[in-house]
Amino acid sequence: MTPLRAQIDDAVKFLRTKTSAAPSVGIILGTGLGGLVKEIAAEIVIDYSEIPHFPVSTVESHKGKLIFGTLGGKSIVAMQGRFHYYEGYTMQQVTFPVRVMKALGVNTLLISNAAGGMNPLFTKGDIMLITDHINLLGDNPLIGHNDDTLGPRFPDMTEPYTHELIALAEKVALDQKIRLQKGVFVAVSGPNLETRAEYRFLRGIGADVVGMSTVPEVIVAAHQSMRVLGFSIMTDECFPDALKPVSLQEVIAVANAAEPKLTSIMKEVVARL
Ligand code: HPA
Repeated sequence: MTPLRAQIDDAVKFLRTKTSAAPSVGIILGTGLGGLVKEIAAEIVIDYSEIPHFPVSTVESHKGKLIFGTLGGKSIVAMQGRFHYYEGYTMQQVTFPVRVMKALGVNTLLISNAAGGMNPLFTKGDIMLITDHINLLGDNPLIGHNDDTLGPRFPDMTEPYTHELIALAEKVALDQKIRLQKGVFVAVSGPNLETRAEYRFLRGIGADVVGMSTVPEVIVAAHQSMRVLGFSIMTDECFPDALKPVSLQEVIAVANAAEPKLTSIMKEVVARL
């Protein structure tokens, strides 16, 4: 057995002493986007600090709790608070919860983030469905020994964001009269925001929004053949020729303002899965 598999088994064994839930859907909520948690009929809430091998969140805007419950009539497990590479965790630590989710039976992952928008047709507060991504983190959670029982050495990435789920989310948003954008998410390590030259570069290579999360989790989800639906909230306008300073407070305020719409879409998507 690989060390990673042993750690996953430890975490699952611990969680099984707390709950017999069999969630099929996993949810990871981004900065300022934790409101969905209020919609979950929670069965049990577990602090990350209790779970073997789980990293502990260091960012104040992220709570560290794993929530088991139901949403839209489905058994789900949600992370309130996620781990970022810039906090100093390894890629394996950042993605460990996705490994544990899969081991618990989760096959569909819903993931959200706050991101800077570079597509000039987008506006602050827009919700974007992630159709594809670019990994500029300079690292990868799959580097190192591959555990073939978890997934293949060279996972395919033709459809990391499941087309069927994107179509479902679009249908739900249309029914709810919520405007959705679609586009490419690029992940950078942060923690600093980008320079004008970097925004120009990132737009030039084909990205619509930029953020510091999500891609590691989605790579691991793809490795494990999980279905993924990803959302970005555009919290700031990253137009290099008209760039204004942005604070974490603003990012959180914009995310909070857009959050009810995102929650409404995610809840209905889960109900219709
Ligand atoms: N860059 C990177 N990450 C971000 C940004 C940004 O402009 N805004 C919110 N998250």
